[in-house]
Amino acid sequence: MQFELTEEQLMIRQAARDFAQTELKPGVIERDEHQKFPAEQIKKLGELGFLGMMVSPEYGGSGMDAISYSIVMEELSKVDASASVVVSVNNSLVCYGLEKYGNEAQKQKYLIPLAQGQVIGAFCLSEPEAGSDATSQQTTAIDMGDYYLLNGTKNWITNGSTASTYIVMAQTDASKKHRGINALIIEKGMQGFTVGPKENKMGIRGSDTHSLMFTDVKVPKENRIGEEGFGFKFAMATLEGGRIGIASQALGIAAGAYELSVQYAKDRKAFGKTLADLQAIQFKLADMATEIEAARLLCYRAAWLKDNHLPYAQAASMAKLFASETAMRTTVEAVQIHGGYGFVKEYHVERLMRDAKITQIYEGTSEIQRIVISREVLK
Ligand code: CAA
Repeated sequence: MQFELTEEQLMIRQAARDFAQTELKPGVIERDEHQKFPAEQIKKLGELGFLGMMVSPEYGGSGMDAISYSIVMEELSKVDASASVVVSVNNSLVCYGLEKYGNEAQKQKYLIPLAQGQVIGAFCLSEPEAGSDATSQQTTAIDMGDYYLLNGTKNWITNGSTASTYIVMAQTDASKKHRGINALIIEKGMQGFTVGPKENKMGIRGSDTHSLMFTDVKVPKENRIGEEGFGFKFAMATLEGGRIGIASQALGIAAGAYELSVQYAKDRKAFGKTLADLQAIQFKLADMATEIEAARLLCYRAAWLKDNHLPYAQAASMAKLFASETAMRTTVEAVQIHGGYGFVKEYHVERLMRDAKITQIYEGTSEIQRIVISREVLK
C-alpha cells in the first residue's frame, strides 16, 4: 500500500494551489455576491488542461489519473466551489461519459473541444418531478425515424446557459421504464431549445444553474450515446465518477474552512492568549483535521479503484457521503471559531458553509449515497 503522492501528483497539486490563490481568490466574494460566473478563470483552467483531465491526449485531454483529478478538485474547492463545480461536471459527467460510451464521430465532434476547454458541457438528468427518483423521466424523445423529437423540462442544470454541449436524458419508450431512456447530445442553438432564468441559490452562487426547456427539438439519431435504451445506465455509470469529483469538492470546502480556522486561531487573541491556546478550540481543530484526513483517504481510495478499473460505485458513494457531511460539520465549526467575523463575508467561512450544503444534495443526496452503499452491503 502506497500513501505517498507521486512527483507528478505533487506538481499538479502545487499548480492547482497556485491557481486557486492567484486566479480564484481575488474576486471570489464579489462573484458570490453578484452570482457572477467565473468565465475568465474557467477559460484559464481549460488552458491548463483541467477541464479534460482524465481524457486521453488523443482526444484533447491531459491523460491524468483520477487521483490527480481529486487533488485538483480539493485545491480549487478550498477557495472557490463555484468554479470547481464547472471543473467537476465537465470532467466527470460530460467528458468521461463521451470518452467511455461515445462513438468515434461523437468524440471527434464534441469531446475534443470539451476536453481542450474551448467549450463547456452540461449533464441534464434532473427534472421538476425527477430528482432522486431519476428513473421517472418525463422528458420524451419520440423516435421519428431519422431523428428524435425532444420535449420536456430539465431543472437545476449546472452550466445551464454557459454550456455549448448538453447531454440530455429522455424517455423514448415508457413501457420499458428506465430501459427506454436515451442519452442525447444537444447543441446550444438547436431550434426549440431554450434556457430558463438563472436560479438564485444559497451557495455556489457563482455557478450557472438554470432550467432548460425543449419544445419539439429535432435531435439527429447520430447524437444518441450508446445503444437504444442505454441512457439510464449511461447516467448512473457517469454519476459514479461524478461522485468522486463532488466528494473531492466537499473535501476541499472542509479543508479550506479548516485552514482558515487554524490561521485565525493562531492570530486571534482572547482572554490574554491566542484562541489556539484554548483547549475548546484545540479540540475542534483536532476533530476537523481527523475528519478531513478520513474524507481525503476515502476520496483517494475511490479514485484509485477507478484508475485500476475495479468496481468503485460503493467507494465513490462512501466518499461523497462522508466528505459532504464533513464539509457541513467543519464549515459550521469554522464559523463558530471565527465568532462574529465568521458571520461576515470578508472572512470566507460563511460562504464555505453555504457552499458545503449543496454537496449533500447534488449528484445524489446523502440518502441516495446510503442507498447505493447499503445495496452493496446487503447483496
Ligand atoms: N452503472 C451502470 N448501471 C447502473 C448503475 C451504475 N452505477 N446503477 C444502476 N444501474 C442500472 C441497474 O443495473 C439497473 O439496470 P437493469 O434494470 O437493466 O438491471 C438500472 O440501472 C436501474 O437501477 P436501479 O434498479 O438501482 O434503479 P433505482 O430506480 O432503484 O434507482 C438510484 C437507483 C441509486 C436511486 C438512482 O436513481 C440514483 O442514483 N438517483 C440519484 C440521481 C442523481 O444522482 N441525480 C443527480 C443529478 S446530476 C447533478 O446533480 C449534476 C450537477 O448539476 C452537479
